[in-house]
Amino acid sequence: MKAQFDLKGKKVLVTGGASGIGLGAVQAFLRCGATVAINDLPGSQNLGDAIERLKAEGHNVVAAPGNVGDAADAPRMIREAIAALGGLDYLINNAGTPGTKSPIPPSDFDRQDDDFWSLLLNVNLLGPFRCTKAAASALKASSGAIVNTASIAAHGMGGSSSPYCATKAGLLSLTREWSRALAPQVRVNAIAPGVVDSNWMCRFDEVEGDRFNPEIVPLRRIGTPEDYGEAILWLAAGADYVTGQCLNVDGGMTT
Ligand SMILES: NC(=O)c1ccc[n+]([C@@H]2O[C@H](COP(=O)([O-])OP(=O)(O)OC[C@H]3O[C@@H](n4cnc5c(N)ncnc54)[C@H](O)[C@@H]3O)[C@@H](O)[C@H]2O)c1
Repeated sequence: MKAQFDLKGKKVLVTGGASGIGLGAVQAFLRCGATVAINDLPGSQNLGDAIERLKAEGHNVVAAPGNVGDAADAPRMIREAIAALGGLDYLINNAGTPGTKSPIPPSDFDRQDDDFWSLLLNVNLLGPFRCTKAAASALKASSGAIVNTASIAAHGMGGSSSPYCATKAGLLSLTREWSRALAPQVRVNAIAPGVVDSNWMCRFDEVEGDRFNPEIVPLRRIGTPEDYGEAILWLAAGADYVTGQCLNVDGGMTT
């Protein structure tokens, strides 16, 4: 059973919204009648395709191309999206990258060089900061909410690399910090996804054959973008007395 909210007139921005978890969140908000700005990397084919398909289905969507990992482009994208929407109720900081196609073991320090750290810090940690900073006044004006997409990698469950785990742990720290910074007007929460059926660049299955084995998940299935989108929707539009928290959405993996 899906949560139902009446979000007609509500304005939402989802970063990294053209694929996977972000697109799952976009579709959850649209189902409830919201208008959604979809951000993804400039030139993204997925972004163009998603906008075209969702418009054809009669939804209110606007494209908000921009690189959240870029110090100038992220605030520009947020400003233009808020102008196009006419305000902002919910910011979903979802864009993220593993920066590698195959997992990097914690012991492989050589592959964890400064360029790699810089990419992950810029996209996964500074990206949400830049977007939150640029959207803060609009969110305060609407008494809105932020949901950050972290990962169970933040809890020591393993991930594509140690820098990736560190950026997601940092994002959980910022979730708590921002919940105080923006209270009482704006609630700030996070989800920590487990295994995801998405277009994620890093393929674990080639290295760890069992990562996509549903047998390792207590609920015995891999999470879908819809599963994660529903949790994001609830934390943004429901959960009125919840702030500064992380909801593990992982089929029970962290238990
Ligand atoms: N896939 C997993 O195993 C997994 C697990 C836990 C958490 N997560 C997190 O979930 C979020 C979504 O990942 P997904 O699994 O849906 O992957 P995905 O690759 O399907 O979607 C991520 C989207 O973000 C976009 N993006 C990447 N860098 C960007 C940038 N700098 N600016 C704007 N957009 C950018 C990509 O183009 C892509 O469309 C990420 O934050 C990721 O860290 C993923």
